[in-house]
Amino acid sequence: MSCDGRTAAAPAGPTVAALAALGPAVGPIRDEARSQGVDFVRRLFEEWASGANRFDRPGEIFLGVWRGDRLVGVGGLNRDPYAAGGDIGRVRHVYLLGAHRHLGLGTLLVTRLLREAEGHFRIVRLRAASPEAAAFYRRLGFAECADPAATHLIRVRPIP
Ligand SMILES: CC(C)(COP(=O)(O)OP(=O)(O)OC[C@H]1O[C@@H](n2cnc3c(N)ncnc32)[C@H](O)[C@@H]1OP(=O)(O)O)[C@@H](O)C(=O)NCCC(=O)NCCS
Repeated sequence: MSCDGRTAAAPAGPTVAALAALGPAVGPIRDEARSQGVDFVRRLFEEWASGANRFDRPGEIFLGVWRGDRLVGVGGLNRDPYAAGGDIGRVRHVYLLGAHRHLGLGTLLVTRLLREAEGHFRIVRLRAASPEAAAFYRRLGFAECADPAATHLIRVRPIP
């Protein structure tokens, strides 16, 4: 705090917001993921372009993590297409730029997706893309599950 009682401008913290389109801000994520052969990000763009999946059905949402004006991460919540019934959600396409990992931003993003799932889904499932991703989801409270279509699940606040 300065001597006149004013607080110095703090650097902007990360923000999480819905993304309605895959605009230019997503370019660095697409390029980094492509250079590393991350297939699910390629599918994200493909399915968005074709209209096959734009996270726009009831209960669905696609979120971005921003640091200032830079989009550093993305991730979405779908109705799980591999589950019977409509009360199971699926976390998909979670990707943080390499330079922005291990800062809690993935946690911020997935926690927000789980909050968005409340009232829409009973359970949220996903398929962890690697042992590292599995460790990340376990730490968030997901349990391992033995299902051909999912490796982890978590219960969310029930549908009223
Ligand atoms: C997995 C991923 C989303 C995690 O995002 P993140 O912002 O780095 O995660 P956080 O900082 O919130 O991590 C919280 C904790 O999860 C665990 N964790 C995260 N990444 C991990 C890793 N690579 N290996 C082991 N544990 C990990 C750790 O306990 C971590 O705490 P720490 O940083 O103090 O060790 C991110 O690394 C990523 O985008 N990876 C590439 C794409 C991917 O695998 N996506 C998941 C698809 S299923």
